[in-house]
Amino acid sequence: MFQAHRRAFLDSMQEGDIALFAGACHVTRNHDVDFPFRQDSDYYYLTGHRESDGLLMLAKGLDGIPEETIFVLPRDPKMETWFGVRLGSEGAPEALGIACARVNTELAAAIADAMQKCTRIWYRLGGRADVDAMVMKGFAHLRTQVRKGFAPPTAVLEPTHVLHEMRLFKSPAEMDVMRRAAALSAKGHNLAMAMMQPGMMEYEVEAFYNYTFRRAGAESMGWSYGTIVAGGDHANILHYVENDKPLNDGELVLVDAGAEFGLYAGDITRTYPVNGKFTDAQKEVYAAVLAAEKASIAASVVGATLLDVHNASVQVLCSALITLGVTEDSVEKQVASESYKEWFLHNTSHWIGLDVHDAGKYRDGDHWRPLEPGMCFTIEPGLYFRADDERVPERLRGIGVRIEDDIHVTVDGPENLTIDAVKEIVDIEATCAGN
Ligand code: GLY
Ligand code: MN
Ligand code: MN
Repeated sequence: MFQAHRRAFLDSMQEGDIALFAGACHVTRNHDVDFPFRQDSDYYYLTGHRESDGLLMLAKGLDGIPEETIFVLPRDPKMETWFGVRLGSEGAPEALGIACARVNTELAAAIADAMQKCTRIWYRLGGRADVDAMVMKGFAHLRTQVRKGFAPPTAVLEPTHVLHEMRLFKSPAEMDVMRRAAALSAKGHNLAMAMMQPGMMEYEVEAFYNYTFRRAGAESMGWSYGTIVAGGDHANILHYVENDKPLNDGELVLVDAGAEFGLYAGDITRTYPVNGKFTDAQKEVYAAVLAAEKASIAASVVGATLLDVHNASVQVLCSALITLGVTEDSVEKQVASESYKEWFLHNTSHWIGLDVHDAGKYRDGDHWRPLEPGMCFTIEPGLYFRADDERVPERLRGIGVRIEDDIHVTVDGPENLTIDAVKEIVDIEATCAGN
């Protein structure tokens, strides 16, 4: 699939263009310890290359420069003994399907040469500082070479406009990987429901998810974003990350956790009772959010927009705020005043793919873009009633519920990629009971 991605980008280039895509480098955590390595998503999308310090050069119609060249870490017995085997320029062509591979120690000279020959350059300035410096140096140098018949490229083009539009539409091959990421994510939630017990710590549950993801073959740390395990009132802190409190009998736990597989993300939220049984009040709130989520999923059809998807949840949740006794305002009045945002604070969707909040424009100018087959996004409505919120009936205070699934738009309607993660009240209670 990576070759097809390169071909598509090449098709958008003009004769005389070069394009540079830099891979990620290691980032120091402290002293000689690095953060876990994660490849740059744009670079991975075009190459499938997992090693650090790489660069892909595409060239269109330039004498002496292959259409595709990948620059990789050189083979180095000492470094490989310490840090792992490298493809090198010897192994990269076969492993990556890119005929021309060179060592990255030749990169500065290759960029200087390509900049001298090209008319325009596609490059994401401000990404990798060492490559930025090479490109700047190329411009500075070529400005001094005019009497020798050279000139700097006429334009630096931002590649993300094209590339991120491509990334927004998942191919069948990408969907296979997305489905695996979604399935691993769902498995984590189902297994966690079955092992949940009052008195466990939030971090124990976090560790269980990450272990389950990794054990099933997920990438690196297992997760595609930091796992959120929020017991009781902590669910009302949207980006709760401490995960350091006990999970109490009688409370709900909100878990927002997804696996990363093949560098593609899953993103699921489930909210379930710590002791396995919903109280009546919890059931009412949960049922409202579930109805909203289902309404948004049903709205996820070709030609609709993410605003339509969001509004489907807004309608259901505003109606629920009346039924739950939170407000007497009509749905219309709540929508007009946006008063519902006190309890449904966020949007309903974001694109999902290689990044959990994936690349791609949401609007064309002022207009939300219509949904098209191949787009993938989350649906994640919620209701958040803080323990100290005296505007809501007392029995609802301290209840926070979010339900999140990953959706693929198809001509036949929405495909729920994360459908295996149980979410009906009866199914959650059965799964919690180990059935
Ligand atoms: N887990 C991040 C999100 O739901 O957007
Ligand atoms: Mn999400
Ligand atoms: Mn999420």
